[in-house]
Amino acid sequence: MSWIISIVNQKGGVGKTTTAINLASSLSTFGKKVLIVDFDAQGNSSRGYGIDISLLNKTIYEALIGKYDINAIIKKTLVKNVDVAPANLRLSNFESETVGTVQDPFKILKNVLSKLTKNYDFILIDCPPSLGLLSINALSASNSALIPVQCEYFAMEGLAQVLSIIKRVQSSYNRDLEIEGFLLTMYETRSTLGKEIVSQVRGLFRENTFNVEIPRNISISESSGKGIPVNLYKPTSAGARAYMQLAKEILENESRRKEEWNCSK
Ligand SMILES: Nc1ncnc2c1ncn2[C@@H]1O[C@H](COP(=O)(O)OP(=O)(O)OP(=O)(O)O)[C@@H](O)[C@H]1O
Ligand SMILES: [Mg+2]
Repeated sequence: MSWIISIVNQKGGVGKTTTAINLASSLSTFGKKVLIVDFDAQGNSSRGYGIDISLLNKTIYEALIGKYDINAIIKKTLVKNVDVAPANLRLSNFESETVGTVQDPFKILKNVLSKLTKNYDFILIDCPPSLGLLSINALSASNSALIPVQCEYFAMEGLAQVLSIIKRVQSSYNRDLEIEGFLLTMYETRSTLGKEIVSQVRGLFRENTFNVEIPRNISISESSGKGIPVNLYKPTSAGARAYMQLAKEILENESRRKEEWNCSK
C-alpha cells in the first residue's frame, strides 16, 4: 500500500513544488519507489524533472476525465525510482468541467489512484496555490498533508485556512487524514524575521513541525531550472542535505506508524 502525501498550501511560492521534487528524489535514495502527481496546471513539478509538458496529450487531466488510464499517463524520470504523473495547462479546465456535472467530484483522484498497477511506497501530490476542487481531491485521496511554510512576511497568514480545509475534508470525505508535518522553507539563518517565524510556527505546532528547516539555497533554485533534483545537481549543498534530512524524518514517521499498527493488532 502506498502512503499518499498532499503537499498543500494555498499561498503561492512557498516551496510546495520544490519539496515534491526533492523529497521524491531523496526518498528514492533510501530505495523507496515514489510517484509525484503534478496537480497544478503550471506543471512545475513535471518540468522540475525535465519533462517537456507543452506537447503532452496524456496528463493527469486525461486520467481524471477518464480518457486515459492513470497507468498510461505516467512518465519515468532520470531518477530510477521516481515517476511523474504530469500536468499542463489543460488541468485548469478540470474545475469548471466537473462542478455540477459529476457525482462525488471530490473523490475523482482517489478513484483514479486506486487503479495504479505499480506499487509505489510514496505518492506525493503537488497541489496548486488554491484550496479549490483540485486540493480537496488531493486531500480526500491522501493519508496525510505536508504543509510548507515559507519563513517570510505573512507566513502565518492563510495557515488557518489550510487547517480549516483539512478539518472539512476529515469530517466529510476522509476522516483518517493526518498532518504529516509543517515544513519551514527558504529559511535564512541570518535573518531575524526568519528566526521569528521559526519560533512562531514551532510554538504553535510543536508536535507537528519537522525538525529540519529547509534553507534558502541557490543550488535548490538552480537545480529546478535545470530539470534535475538538487541531490543529483549538488549533492553536498545545504539544500540537498536538508531535503535528505526531511526524507529521514518522513521514514521515521513511517516506522512509528508501523510500530503503532503492530501494537494495536
Ligand atoms: N529552499 C529554497 N531555496 C532557494 N529557492 C527556493 C527554495 N525553495 C523554493 N525556491 C524557489 O522559490 C520559487 C517558488 O518555489 P516553488 O515553486 O516550490 O513554490 P510553490 O509553493 O510550488 O509555488 P506555487 O504556489 O506557484 O505552485 C521557485 O523559483 C523555487 O526555485
Ligand atoms: Mg508549485
